Amino acid sequence: MLARWIDRVRINTVEPSWREGRRIFIKRRLPYLAPVLLAGNVFLRLSRSRIRMFVGAGEWAAWERTSFELLHGAEGSAGPVGRDALYTTELPGIPLLRLAGEGELRAAAVRAAGVELARAHGLATPARGPWSHGDPHLANFLYDEAAGRARLVDFETRHEPDLPAIDRHADDLLVFLLDLLGRCPEASWPELAREFLSAYGAQPAIERLRGRLVFPRGLERTLWACRTNHLSSERLRGGLRRLASALDGVAASG
Ligand SMILES: Nc1ncnc2c1ncn2[C@@H]1O[C@H](COP(=O)(O)OP(=O)(O)OP(=O)(O)O)[C@@H](O)[C@H]1O
Ligand SMILES: [Mg+2]
Repeated sequence: MLARWIDRVRINTVEPSWREGRRIFIKRRLPYLAPVLLAGNVFLRLSRSRIRMFVGAGEWAAWERTSFELLHGAEGSAGPVGRDALYTTELPGIPLLRLAGEGELRAAAVRAAGVELARAHGLATPARGPWSHGDPHLANFLYDEAAGRARLVDFETRHEPDLPAIDRHADDLLVFLLDLLGRCPEASWPELAREFLSAYGAQPAIERLRGRLVFPRGLERTLWACRTNHLSSERLRGGLRRLASALDGVAASG
């Protein structure tokens, strides 16, 4: 019940528009959000999510902009729109979630996501060190088939500041894999998970991920219900076992 309610909470709107002849997206925070964000952050802490939402609109917009410029500054731009909104120039591609919904999510797309996540994890900001996303689920990767690459959007949440980079990176891998497990058929997701992990590469975060493949309890189970599209406990248990073997494969090939 709680997980279903959390899924329905909206904190911003995203609208396409135009600016200086380029297509942009304007992301705007809904009004009177502070109580929702504060309650949301209590849930994120108690559920051991390792991420937080920004309560202040200014802080939120600054991080979205910093992240967009860090990852996509060579091809696009981002900036404020008034006090509670931000624009980003359009990036090419289709959300992986849409491909999954159409039964069209294939190895090439998840490989591109793995390569892009590894690239993004190799970047850093002066204030925070190595970069991490916090919520890289399938809807936050755009797959550009023509260029054979994926790009990340949506820098709405951020990892806890004290969490070491290796744990933040392992957490990003886990969020992606849990969404894959919840959105793709039983017959196809293990192979897609292997493709994603091997494209990410045999990095230390892969080993750290192994320790995260433990069936969650309490509010963490509620969080995982949201992160796995409400997968049953039985399928989640089986999924965790198969993810562990996928990790063995990457470790052996690395
Ligand atoms: N710069 C961009 N270029 C292309 N598409 C974008 C861009 N920014 C946002 N989008 C599209 O709008 C969608 C919603 O944007 P975003 O993920 O930032 O907001 P959100 O409200 O947090 O979404 P959600 O809660 O569904 O993750 C993205 O999944 C993507 O399809
Ligand atoms: Mg999003």
